[in-house]
Amino acid sequence: MIRACVIGWPIAHSRSPLIHGHWLEKYAIQGAYEKKAVEPQHLKDFLNNLAHHGYAGCNVTIPHKEAAFHIARPDALATRLGAANTLYLRDGILHATSTDGEGFMASLKADAPGLVLVGKSALVIGAGGAARAIILALLDHGIGHIDLVNRTPERARELSRHFGNRVTPIAWDRLEQALENQSLLVNTTSLGMAGQPTLAIRLDRLPLEAAVADIVYVPLETPLLKQAALRGHPTSGGLGMLLHQAVAGFELWFGTRPQVTPELRALVEADVRKTM
Ligand code: ATR
Repeated sequence: MIRACVIGWPIAHSRSPLIHGHWLEKYAIQGAYEKKAVEPQHLKDFLNNLAHHGYAGCNVTIPHKEAAFHIARPDALATRLGAANTLYLRDGILHATSTDGEGFMASLKADAPGLVLVGKSALVIGAGGAARAIILALLDHGIGHIDLVNRTPERARELSRHFGNRVTPIAWDRLEQALENQSLLVNTTSLGMAGQPTLAIRLDRLPLEAAVADIVYVPLETPLLKQAALRGHPTSGGLGMLLHQAVAGFELWFGTRPQVTPELRALVEADVRKTM
């Protein structure tokens, strides 16, 4: 019996057990995936004793992504990000990686199969942890240029310094102007999430072939995605990223590479709708 878990503080809202539980059943694997509420001051102790607790690995979510990276042995990707969301034991050593960027790219490719990014330009809104993972993934997939807009300009400048001259910070009041010539627009902020303000933006200047992605998945279709779909843009919602980021972790712990199917998506969508 292989066990894995997701740890966070709080953790009640996590949909990871639903996703991994579905795959365990589908692939008839003798395993379990549980939720564990771990307070920040107990994180180190918990991770250092992960095997003792009976786990082969875990997902880490808010607020543990950076701390987990310092406690476990990060791979090259986690090192470049300074954060991790997926931990796994090998020969008694706890390794850390990040699957958020891979999840974003896989979801985007599934939703906008014709989209070409190599040598093109993208506009990213937000400069937090999710933005870092997505920017890195876009750069690694050959994006030519990224314009970065953030409410707090210093954080966008900091990311630009970190990632180099392919990332340009743009002032918030130039957001709509900056839509011109983009092949992709990504919202990585919580704007548009249920209970949060919406992202006030008119997409008029965005080229019609550009794709629009949002990491928010409550609601499943944010006002941004609704506006984009009405204009005919290919759209990619946050639920796809959530589902696809889970693939690599499941394979690392349970040894089978699972598939993101319409059946799984419908299961998690129904759960999201229940909470709205
Ligand atoms: P995460 O790790 O999920 O990306 P984060 O590091 O807290 O979370 O980042 C949240 C992002 O959403 C930031 O870019 C934040 O902007 P600031 O850097 O100015 O804080 C952005 N954000 C959150 N609420 C916002 C709001 N009401 N208006 C504009 N941006 C907002």
